[in-house]
Amino acid sequence: MLRDLRTNYQKSELTEESINSDPFRQLEEWLKSAIDEKNQEPTAMVLSTVDARGFPDSRVVLLKEINSDGLVFFTNYNSKKGRQITASPNVAVNFFWSKMERQVRIKGVAEQIPEEYSVDYFKSRPIDSQLGAWASPQSRIIENRKFLEENFSLYQHYFQDHEIIKPPHWGGFLIRPEYFEFWQGRSNRLHDRIAFQKSNGAWDIFRLAP
Ligand SMILES: Cc1cc2nc3c(=O)[nH]c(=O)nc-3n(C[C@H](O)[C@H](O)[C@H](O)COP(=O)(O)O)c2cc1C
Repeated sequence: MLRDLRTNYQKSELTEESINSDPFRQLEEWLKSAIDEKNQEPTAMVLSTVDARGFPDSRVVLLKEINSDGLVFFTNYNSKKGRQITASPNVAVNFFWSKMERQVRIKGVAEQIPEEYSVDYFKSRPIDSQLGAWASPQSRIIENRKFLEENFSLYQHYFQDHEIIKPPHWGGFLIRPEYFEFWQGRSNRLHDRIAFQKSNGAWDIFRLAP
């Protein structure tokens, strides 16, 4: 029964003393341990956007970079998420690393990254992923799977003897965080939650009840 499934979390703890005072560094530390501990898809994050009717819409994307401004992921700008961000750039991100009993929640504002950075990253992708970006009109209704496979072959043929250039509708978004929450599972449901809220360019740090 679902109701009988429960875990008593006791792997670690998060304290005001142990947390990094820079939430970007703290996120990097937790990401590194998620990678080292071989969590499946450690860079996978649930990205929530808001649609035209005000409904949240969530899906998984892969984090490709953390820099001093924020978090970068790549997608199709014409996809549902791409259009939603263009219309309303406020987003939320959630990481869950079950092996570490950890969650990170982030709220921020997303913007397209400069074209040359997207070109740079696109070049580093495997050829099949590059072709996939051309072949899939992400989020559009399609007739059947055959459409995708034929489209893939078509672009394969088209780019046969050429470098595969980046589709103009494909690129990165940078999420500039305004809020982070680091959650560490603890025993008896008395979990640790430490949050950072941006205020006048600095971070206010506080603990939340679980
Ligand atoms: C593990 C995993 C990683 C994914 N990574 C990406 C990604 O980096 N970029 C992306 O556009 N979609 C990625 N997807 C697919 C998205 O979850 C989603 O299906 C797709 O982007 C279309 O979303 P949309 O219609 O809301 O725009 C990933 C899915 C999974 C399960």
